[in-house]
Amino acid sequence: MEKLFILGDSGLVGSAIIELLKEDYDITGVSRDQIPKAKWKHLKFDLESDQLLPILEATQPSVIISCTRGDFEKQLETHREIVKYASQTNAKVYFFSTANVFDGIPNSVKIETDLVNATSAYGHFKINCENLLTEGLAQNAIILRLPMVFGKKSPRVKEIVAALRNEKSIELYENLIFTSIWDTQIAFMFKHILESDLRGIFHLTSKDVMDHTTYYRKFLHNNVLIEKGNIKHQEPYYLALGSTRQELVDYEYSNDDVIRKIKKALKKFKQ
Ligand SMILES: NC(=O)c1ccc[n+]([C@@H]2O[C@H](COP(=O)([O-])OP(=O)(O)OC[C@H]3O[C@@H](n4cnc5c(N)ncnc54)[C@H](OP(=O)(O)O)[C@@H]3O)[C@@H](O)[C@H]2O)c1
Repeated sequence: MEKLFILGDSGLVGSAIIELLKEDYDITGVSRDQIPKAKWKHLKFDLESDQLLPILEATQPSVIISCTRGDFEKQLETHREIVKYASQTNAKVYFFSTANVFDGIPNSVKIETDLVNATSAYGHFKINCENLLTEGLAQNAIILRLPMVFGKKSPRVKEIVAALRNEKSIELYENLIFTSIWDTQIAFMFKHILESDLRGIFHLTSKDVMDHTTYYRKFLHNNVLIEKGNIKHQEPYYLALGSTRQELVDYEYSNDDVIRKIKKALKKFKQ
């Protein structure tokens, strides 16, 4: 069985990938806490204090999937250890990045071949990590950029539930144009990229864009407390990914598909 190693196995993206792949792969995952009854090999690991290289050398994965969070400098150190291991073993590394690598030029939808340019610390960090991996591993570094991710257990759906229960207000950004994706759809796209051995950069995203207010109005009722946000920028502000990768056409998703899933997830909560 092929050995997969996942950083961030308890997270939204990590757990969606594990759920889809756990029967077919020998999976080891790491994050900071215990995971009771994990159906894969889970190890406690804090990238802010622990070394990853000895764990990789002991585990010997042929595929590493990075969907972790944590202090940016420490994450860079951890990814340097990944480069060291992967360049010695020829392992492939899949790195989850973000639409924020383009937040320095938020004037249009960005495709895989567009040049990155970030102003946020998060965007800068992700660019540094993308560069570290591609310079160190060339074709063995595969970059998977994500737009806003939703999922049944995602913080965004929890935030919507709290707003629908009038426990909290929700901020809607009038000038934000964005794309979105559902967590399990990321897992299906990832499986296809992995098993077809596709390389390079991929934007795993809905195929269309929508503004934040229109999007959220599709599932928020009128009694919800709204705060009007406005991103300081010449309007409109795009945080939107597009894709020209033909290999993913069978996995095309629209924002309305994601919204349908959000609505279905909301039905489970009493309002
Ligand atoms: N969600 C989005 O909308 C979105 C959009 C664009 C890009 N991304 C990127 O996609 C990746 C996955 O995002 P996600 O939403 O799945 O994140 P998430 O749900 O917050 O999960 C993050 C994972 O990292 C682990 N982690 C955090 N700090 C750590 C530390 N110091 N040491 C070890 N593990 C640590 C967490 O586990 P513990 O807390 O238990 O340690 C968890 O397993 C991230 O790299 C993120 O930047 C996400």
